[in-house]
Amino acid sequence: MKIGIANDHAAYEYKLKIAAHLRRLGHEVVDFGTGSEVSVDYPDFAHPLAKAVEAGNVDAGIAMCGTGNGMAITLNHHPGIRAGLAWNSEIGRLVKAHNNANVLVMPARFISLRMAIRITDTWLTTPFDGGRHLRRIEKIPVK
Ligand code: RB5
Repeated sequence: MKIGIANDHAAYEYKLKIAAHLRRLGHEVVDFGTGSEVSVDYPDFAHPLAKAVEAGNVDAGIAMCGTGNGMAITLNHHPGIRAGLAWNSEIGRLVKAHNNANVLVMPARFISLRMAIRITDTWLTTPFDGGRHLRRIEKIPVK
């Protein structure tokens, strides 16, 4: 898969490690920054990732900041994005199986790197359940 990844300063180290892990698995990674631990504003990195997912320039996205909430709130302003926050691997499974999240969001300051990688792997390999969950996600857009 071609996976976009975006982060703020709080998740720079995790981004490097997760991107390397994804590349080892054979995925292509598009890095939307940020590229250091210098303090930045997460929307500056969330919006370009969201636009790339919406345009189909990447297949899916991973976003991280300290709590994950800044990234998730920003990403979910885009109509083509379902960004879901996960902090353990069961939620990583459910955020794909039930919500079909096309962007996985994680709180880098509140989970271990090992957990972040487990969540990433689970989300990537879990299929969407469809059925009643499809009906529910179809009701998400504001009419
Ligand atoms: C940065 O200090 C922090 O506010 C940010 O990483 C994130 O947690 C915001 O939602």
